Amino acid sequence: MTLSSLNCWQPRSLYQEATTLPAEMYTSDEIYQLEKELIFGKTWCYVGHKNQLQGNGSYFTVELAEQPLVIVQTQTGDLRGYFNICPHRAGPVAVGSGTSHHLTCLYHAWSFDLSGKLRGLPDMELAENFDRDRHGLQPIQVDTWGPFIFVNLDRNAAPLSVQLGELPALFQHYRFSEWARVHSVDYSTETNWKLYVENNVESYHEFSVHASIAKYYKATRAEARHYYYLQYAPFPPDDDAYTMPADRCFAGLGEVERNGKWTVSFFPNFAWIIRPWIAIIYLIDPQGRSRTRIRWDWLVPDTESAKAPENLEPLIQFFDTIQQEDLRLLPEIQKRIHSLGYRPGRLSPTREMGTHLFQELTMQHLASGFQPKLD
Ligand code: FES
Ligand SMILES: [Fe+2]
Repeated sequence: MTLSSLNCWQPRSLYQEATTLPAEMYTSDEIYQLEKELIFGKTWCYVGHKNQLQGNGSYFTVELAEQPLVIVQTQTGDLRGYFNICPHRAGPVAVGSGTSHHLTCLYHAWSFDLSGKLRGLPDMELAENFDRDRHGLQPIQVDTWGPFIFVNLDRNAAPLSVQLGELPALFQHYRFSEWARVHSVDYSTETNWKLYVENNVESYHEFSVHASIAKYYKATRAEARHYYYLQYAPFPPDDDAYTMPADRCFAGLGEVERNGKWTVSFFPNFAWIIRPWIAIIYLIDPQGRSRTRIRWDWLVPDTESAKAPENLEPLIQFFDTIQQEDLRLLPEIQKRIHSLGYRPGRLSPTREMGTHLFQELTMQHLASGFQPKLD
């Protein structure tokens, strides 16, 4: 295969020329390997929420695009990240999450302090020319925006703030760090990760796929720039939002935030839905060419009323239904892209600007690191 999509790619205008991507972008193992290397290996990706850590000396493990990682909070409170790969023979140095002074490999029990240094190693006394300092854990970059933890596997990458651009300023009224994480759920779909994101960054399908939110469709405003895509829908006058008790809503919101809902995505794998009383944070994790895990972390105001099961349960049901509606459809899209009958289609200039930006960013990242074959 010559990966003709990358050989021929040129930036495209949304209005005049933008079509969806060729089939191989969703069906090729080579493309998927390039994405792991050039997108998930080089951009800032979301890996978890700070309260997955239990304070100094704690850790959690996470896989992102099939890269095993461990995030630690050192004894002095710094966040660090490493490949969860033992430098001896590739065993896991941590599983799940926990609190410890050391990470100890499950295979032959080499152990590492939380700054990644090799400390304990049984039966290696006779090894000649063995320099412990060269056998520590392999570090990755870690940074945060509020309680959200991002990693970059490229140690030379520019800081997270460059990729975030204006996002923190745009959402400064949301005091993310004060919100309580009350629920987590993993979804899995036999779908290429890009199809999930492309669906998540447009409102075009909402009136036909999601009856429960179709009423917001007309008034939804969207914009896409830099590395993010924003959709905002004001609540209609009869919306339940206006009867929501104040103690179930986030404090500190401005008028715009109080009177509408946002769907926000940040390239490549972070997104959220925010209403004044709930935020769902997405971690989108490719697990193969045609398989994606989506982790949802639920945040609500840290009040008894907002956290009460009788208030939470209906919300969880409501959004789970929406998610299932998407997850029923997306494998059908994946199947059809594999078909001989698939052809790229045109994008809506007013409804699919997020999909367009996402596809452009994807292609830019792949094309910039791709060496065309001269055949
Ligand atoms: S693989 Fe880790 S100690 Fe052997
Ligand atoms: Fe949807």
